[in-house]
Amino acid sequence: MMYAFKTIVLSLLPLAVATTSNGFDPREATIASTHHSLDTGLTTCREVVSSFLSRIERLNNHTNAIISLNPHALSIADQQDAQLRSNNGSYGPLFCIPILLKDNYDTADIPTTGGNLALAQSQPSKDAPVVATLKKAGAIILGKANLHELALEGLSVSSLGGQTINPYDSSRTPGGSSGGTGAAVASSFCVWGTGTDTVNSLRSPASANNLYSCRPTRGLISRAGVVPISYTQDALGPIARSVEDVATALTVMASVGFDADDNTTALVPAGTYGTNYMSSLTKGSLKGLRLGLVEGFFNKTTSPENDPVNNAMAQTVAKLRKAGATIVPITSSLYNSSAILASLDTQRFEYRESMDAYLERPSLGGQHPSTLNELYSGHDYLVIPSQYEYVNTSLVSSTANTTGRQGSYATVKQGVANLTLALAETFTANGLDALIYPEQTNIVVRVGSPSQSGRQGILAALTGSPVVTIPVGFSNATATAPEGVPIGMEILGRPWTEEKLLQIAYQWQSLARVRKTPSWAKEVVPVKSYTAVPSITPNRGNIPAAYPVGTLGG
Ligand SMILES: *[C@@H]1O[C@H](CO)[C@@H](O)[C@H](O)[C@H]1NC(C)=O
Ligand SMILES: *[C@@H]1O[C@H](CO)[C@@H](O)[C@H](O)[C@H]1NC(C)=O
Ligand SMILES: *[C@@H]1O[C@H](CO)[C@@H](O)[C@H](O)[C@H]1NC(C)=O
Ligand SMILES: *[C@@H]1O[C@H](CO)[C@@H](O)[C@H](O)[C@H]1NC(C)=O
Ligand SMILES: *[C@@H]1O[C@H](CO)[C@@H](O)[C@H](O)[C@H]1NC(C)=O
Ligand SMILES: *[C@@H]1O[C@H](CO)[C@@H](O)[C@H](O)[C@H]1NC(C)=O
Ligand SMILES: *[C@@H]1O[C@H](CO)[C@@H](O)[C@H](O)[C@H]1NC(C)=O
Ligand SMILES: *[C@@H]1O[C@H](CO)[C@@H](O)[C@H](O)[C@H]1NC(C)=O
Ligand SMILES: *[C@@H]1O[C@H](CO)[C@@H](O)[C@H](O)[C@H]1NC(C)=O
Repeated sequence: MMYAFKTIVLSLLPLAVATTSNGFDPREATIASTHHSLDTGLTTCREVVSSFLSRIERLNNHTNAIISLNPHALSIADQQDAQLRSNNGSYGPLFCIPILLKDNYDTADIPTTGGNLALAQSQPSKDAPVVATLKKAGAIILGKANLHELALEGLSVSSLGGQTINPYDSSRTPGGSSGGTGAAVASSFCVWGTGTDTVNSLRSPASANNLYSCRPTRGLISRAGVVPISYTQDALGPIARSVEDVATALTVMASVGFDADDNTTALVPAGTYGTNYMSSLTKGSLKGLRLGLVEGFFNKTTSPENDPVNNAMAQTVAKLRKAGATIVPITSSLYNSSAILASLDTQRFEYRESMDAYLERPSLGGQHPSTLNELYSGHDYLVIPSQYEYVNTSLVSSTANTTGRQGSYATVKQGVANLTLALAETFTANGLDALIYPEQTNIVVRVGSPSQSGRQGILAALTGSPVVTIPVGFSNATATAPEGVPIGMEILGRPWTEEKLLQIAYQWQSLARVRKTPSWAKEVVPVKSYTAVPSITPNRGNIPAAYPVGTLGG
């Protein structure tokens, strides 16, 4: 099976054939190309891991994407080399695949900080179930990626990790909140990485970094052991350079299965358990698909920020039509993200209790605040200008919980149920396979902007719908963006249709070939012979003045 995908994967590589000194080229490497190099004896697992560490050490200053490296990564690689020499040709689906985790996934061997200075020493005693599953499948955790602090916005700036920079445009943010993962994956600092998504956060970094991601249906992947925001909206998922790698990563992450510590996992239908999203990838077709184009999720006002998105979407729609898909305009005024966010967002009710529960757990070791109030009274956090109601200590105790203002939380939940039904009606009435729309109505915002405006993630977040995000184009090149700024599209499906959405994305990948390496990331970095994993220091000196550290709540 490994070999079956070899030709496809190689033909997608935007780079010429590898010219590195060793037998493994980390640039644009995929799970299949890494396994191929290992299987044919061209490389060792130590060399695979060392080649990514060498890139991170040399190139991380371009994006400031990494918070910490895993001191055990090389010894795990050595163990896997020993396993490779002694085994009989079988290994886990992520054997020796270097990955980066967004730094809100609990790891028992590295602190889990959420990018927050107050959590710099916070040390879970157990891996999150999804992390344990990734390790069991052979993945090697290289380290942790920066994020928007505590995953609360989409600019990817944090008090611990500083500002992460977009690898395609040095003047822009990488989207977020999983922006460190997005920037790192786009720059080939790992094969793929993990993100979380409460409103937009797996999709915005995919869109802004020319990558693929999957936000799965609520319940598919246990969220236990991940720094929470919202029971209703939180989701975990993979971000990768190819659909194949998203599919394999999703298969492994979903294999946690039912987890009593996240009761939404009980919702997974029997037939969905154990799905191998990789094995059915080639079975789809664009011919005959009915795709609803959500008109309300565009900004048609002409501007240098909106025009590239509208042009890329027009070209995408034309290509999909030409390939045999039917595009159905969806014009209902219900699909207005600002209106939905203003009336139905559940974060403000759910954050405090989820976060307190996370911080209070006896299994959380290391020095850390034990409540959200304690976190915010220490002044070791970043303040974003449009501060959220639910993290403002002057407001939270009276408003932001599920029992206070019970009436309004109940009304919001009813509204979410209504929206979910209305979405199902849109699918049924129009006979749709999926909805499509730009992830962001404008290209990703510049560093120093007050918020990541124009994103359309709230519909899937509230309804728990699956979305696969795909790259659809670039803006025109500029002095700071030699390849242009990446543009992404969401493909939203009915619950549990990840398999279909990934098949659509796979067809798109073969048809459009949109993936490009950031110019500076094409550099061939000599592989160092490490005796130990180097340490990395995030650049906190680059935090925009607009985001002061530690003045929230007065
Ligand atoms: C990163 O560091 C290298 C030297 O190690 C330097 O040549 C390069 O200009 C730096 N890049 C940025 C964006 O700071
Ligand atoms: C050989 O493969 C089998 C089945 O996958 C496995 O149970 C066994 O442990 C392997 N043997 C070695 C030496 O790795
Ligand atoms: C599901 O879990 C959440 C969070 O732990 C909890 O608030 C809720 O009461 C649980 N629901 C049920 C029906 O057990
Ligand atoms: C649409 O784009 C224009 C021009 O960039 C901008 O001024 C306006 O705020 C945008 N509208 C919305 C709803 O975001
Ligand atoms: C991009 O460049 C093309 C060709 O040079 C030009 O026609 C188009 O107007 C430009 N688009 C934008 C949004 O600037
Ligand atoms: C969408 O909702 C916002 C906020 O409620 C409103 O200001 C705006 O006019 C609506 N847009 C459209 C196109 O109806
Ligand atoms: C929730 O808000 C209510 C009403 O203000 C308050 O009495 C209660 O203590 C709050 N609960 C928590 C867990 O903060
Ligand atoms: C939800 O729908 C019901 C039935 O149509 C309606 O009575 C109710 O007002 C709606 N609630 C919200 C919050 O939209
Ligand atoms: C927090 O809320 C209080 C009360 O509304 C307000 O005065 C203060 O400006 C808010 N703080 C921030 C940082 O938004």
